[in-house]
Order: sequence, then C-alpha cells, then structure tokens
Amino acid sequence: MGEGKHNAPILAGVVGWPVAHSLSPLIHGTWAKRAGVKGYYIPIPVAPDYNDFAVAMDALKTLGFAGVNVTIPHKEHALRYASTASDAARKAGAANMLTFGAQTFADNSDIIGFAEAVRATSSVPRASALVLGAGGAARGVVLALQRLGLTDIVVANRTRAKSEELAKAFGLSVADWEDRSKVLENIDFLVNTTSLGMTGQPPLEIDLTGLKSAALVADIVYAPLETHLLKTAKTRGHETVDGLAMLMHQAVPGFKTWFGGEAVIDDALRAVLVEELNKRSGA
Ligand code: ATR
Repeated sequence: MGEGKHNAPILAGVVGWPVAHSLSPLIHGTWAKRAGVKGYYIPIPVAPDYNDFAVAMDALKTLGFAGVNVTIPHKEHALRYASTASDAARKAGAANMLTFGAQTFADNSDIIGFAEAVRATSSVPRASALVLGAGGAARGVVLALQRLGLTDIVVANRTRAKSEELAKAFGLSVADWEDRSKVLENIDFLVNTTSLGMTGQPPLEIDLTGLKSAALVADIVYAPLETHLLKTAKTRGHETVDGLAMLMHQAVPGFKTWFGGEAVIDDALRAVLVEELNKRSGA
C-alpha cells in the first residue's frame, strides 16, 4: 500500500552546482520547525548542463516535489524549463523559484528579496544608486532598485561592454570601473554585486571617502558576512544591508508557496545562520 498523499511530507529543495553550502535548507528547516509543518527542504546538486537540469526537474515533479529554489548555474535554465513565468522572472531573464503543478511556474524572488531587505532599513528610498558589477545578480538588483523607486542608477563593471548592455536594457547610466570611487559623491546607495570581497576572491578596492554619510551601502556577498566593504562603511557611519538579509528575504515566497506557513525574519533566524557561517569559517 502506498502512502496516502494527504499525509505525505511536503518536499522542496534548492538546486544548484555546487549546492552543498547553501544556507537555504537551514532557513526553510527553521521556519518548518516553527510552523510545525511536516516537510523536507533538501540541497539537490544538478550538473551545469541544461539537459541534466531538465531531467532532474522532471524527476522531482514525478516524485511529488512542491517546488524548488534554483541557484547558480541554473537560474536561466529554470526560466527556460518552466511553462509559465512571472513578469519579474521574465524581466530578469532568470528565475530562482520553480513551483510544480499542472504547469511549472517560474518566479524570481531575488528581486523582491533585495527590495525587502532594503525596506527593512530605516532610510529608504534613495534617489541615486551605484551598482558595481553587471552579471546576473546585478540585473536582479537593478530591477529591485527600480521597484524601490530609484530612477538614477549608475552601473560600473570591469568589462565595460557588459555594463553598457545592462544600461541599455534598463535605462541606466554607465561609469568606468576605474572611476568607481570618484562617482560616489552623488550617490545615495552603493551596492556591490560582484564576487569581489568573497572568501577566496580578490578584495573589492573602493575608497568611500566621497560617499555622503547618509548613503546606504549593500553587499550581496555573505561569506564573510561582514565584508571589508561593509566593515569600512559601518566604521564611517553608513547604514548597511548584508548578503544574509537578502538571502533570508528571498526565501520567504518559496516557503509560503510550498510549505504554506508563516516565514518570519527575525534575530533568532539570523543567529541560527550566523552560527552556521561561523562554524564553517572556524570562528
Ligand atoms: P552573478 O550571477 O553572481 O552576477 P556573474 O554573472 O559571473 O555572476 O558576474 C560576476 C560579476 O563580478 C561581474 O560583474 C564581474 O565582472 P566582469 O563582467 O568584468 O567579469 C565581476 N567580477 C568578478 N571578478 C572580478 C574582478 N577580479 N574584478 C572586477 N570585477 C570582477
């Protein structure tokens, strides 16, 4: 006799390559425990190729998964695989959520996640922003900034052609990567979307001297949690948004959709995640 579907645990997870270090299972696991939901949220490594991704998604659907988060390198694949998609996912050209049903629906909660993390600070919206980087993460951040009402967005990227492409697609202006410190005096919000400053990557070199003291500084990097950029910004009195805030906020729509419980972001959740990050870095 098979298990009755009505009392089977809810299944969800995060698909990526690599994915072993994802904090998402801990976030969803914490919320599931709090809500008393019977379910599992597991990391699922899937090789980078689209065919591997599609086969894995078909299998998860067959197994009865409610949905999955999707991370690097599969965010574009997720959009391609889905039969329907939200406006946000289509605009971003990438999805970090797939919900399985009669049709597979792709959504992008990275955008709302970043916007909500910013809204949780004491001083928004800001008029002008400088976005460092022009990759997939920058695209999501730009859409979030526009959603927050920022109209004057400047992008600076090492490879200028990529920042020009992003600027053209979303109506932004471009600054030279070498001028990133110089343009800060007109900026209310500085966001790093590059991998610089991440453990094992080169540092992000930027001089914050010209940045207005009321400016907000955000970094999508969360390992280390307090990047050199955020540390310097805090020392100079800037309010900051770290990568963990964004990560927690982007997880909310998935939890609500798949597990159907409350997903509250509070100090206790942050403490669980910080403890895990500290454990990993040997602190
Ligand atoms: P993601 O999806 O996380 O944005 P990505 O698309 O690979 O990842 O983008 C990485 C970003 O970090 C890019 O903007 C990249 O700049 P290039 O477009 O010039 O490659 C930036 N980046 C990575 N390493 C860098 C470095 N050493 N110096 C400056 N920028 C760097």
